[in-house]
Amino acid sequence: MITKGIILLGGKGKRLKPLTNYLSKHLLPVYNKPMFCYSLSTLIYANIKEILIICNEKDLEIYKKILIPISKKHNIKFLFEIQKNPTGGIAECLKIGSNLIKSCERFVLILGDNFFFGRDFPKILLKAINKKKSSVFLSSVNNPKNFGIAKFDKKNKLIKIIEKPTSIIGNLAVTGLYVYNSKSISHLKSIKRSKRGELEITSFNNALIKKNSLDYINLGFGITWFDLGTFSNLYECSEFVKLQESRKGIQISKIM
Ligand code: G1P
Repeated sequence: MITKGIILLGGKGKRLKPLTNYLSKHLLPVYNKPMFCYSLSTLIYANIKEILIICNEKDLEIYKKILIPISKKHNIKFLFEIQKNPTGGIAECLKIGSNLIKSCERFVLILGDNFFFGRDFPKILLKAINKKKSSVFLSSVNNPKNFGIAKFDKKNKLIKIIEKPTSIIGNLAVTGLYVYNSKSISHLKSIKRSKRGELEITSFNNALIKKNSLDYINLGFGITWFDLGTFSNLYECSEFVKLQESRKGIQISKIM
C-alpha cells in the first residue's frame, strides 16, 4: 500500500507573537531541535518516503535548505507547496496537496506544531495506516475550549467533533495527526468555510463521520502529546524532552 505524508508548516503563529512576525513558528526551538523535527520524525518513523511540505512563501527557501541533508540521511523525497493564505485552514491544505493525495492510497497529515512521544506510538500509527477507514487520534486535555473535542453517544461511538467548544462536552481532544484513506478527499467538496473564514479540518472529519468513514484511537496515558502553539507549551515540552533525554540517555526525534 502506498502511503505518503503531508506536514503543515504554514499559518500565522498568532499565539507566539512577536517572534512569529520574523520567524516561522515551526523553526522555534523545543529544547535542542526546531519544533518541526518532532512532527516530521513521526512521519519518518512510520516509514513514509514521500512527504509534502506546505509552508508560507517567505519560509520556502529555508525549509528547502534544512531538508536537503534530512532527505539524504533518511532517503526521503520532499515536495513543496505554498499556502498563499496562512489563515485558510488546515483542510485547505488537502486541496493544496491534492496531486500527492491522488498518487497514494493512504496519507498521513500532521501539523508541524504537534509532538507525540511514547514507546507504542509508532505501532499505533502503523496500525491506523493499515486500516481501510480514516483515523483521528485523541488525547485528554485540561483546556478543551482550545481544541477540536470528540463527542460520543452512549455506546462510545464518535458522533461529532466540535471545534473549540464554548461549553464542556468532554475532554478528549482531536490531536493534529490524521490518517486518511485517499478516497476520502472526495468529501472535501461538501464542506464550507467556518465563521472564522477557515476550511476547518473538523468540518472535513465531521463529513467522514456522517459517512461512517472515520475511526478514532484514544492515545491514553502511555502517549504524551503536546500542541506547541503557545509559549507555555513550548516551555513544558522543552522540559519534557530534556528530562527524557538526560535521564534515559536517549535522543528524541534526532533526525537532523
Ligand atoms: C487545530 C485543529 C483542532 C485540533 C488542534 C490540535 O487547532 O483545528 O481541531 O484539536 O489543531 O493541535 P489550531 O491549533 O489550529 O487552533
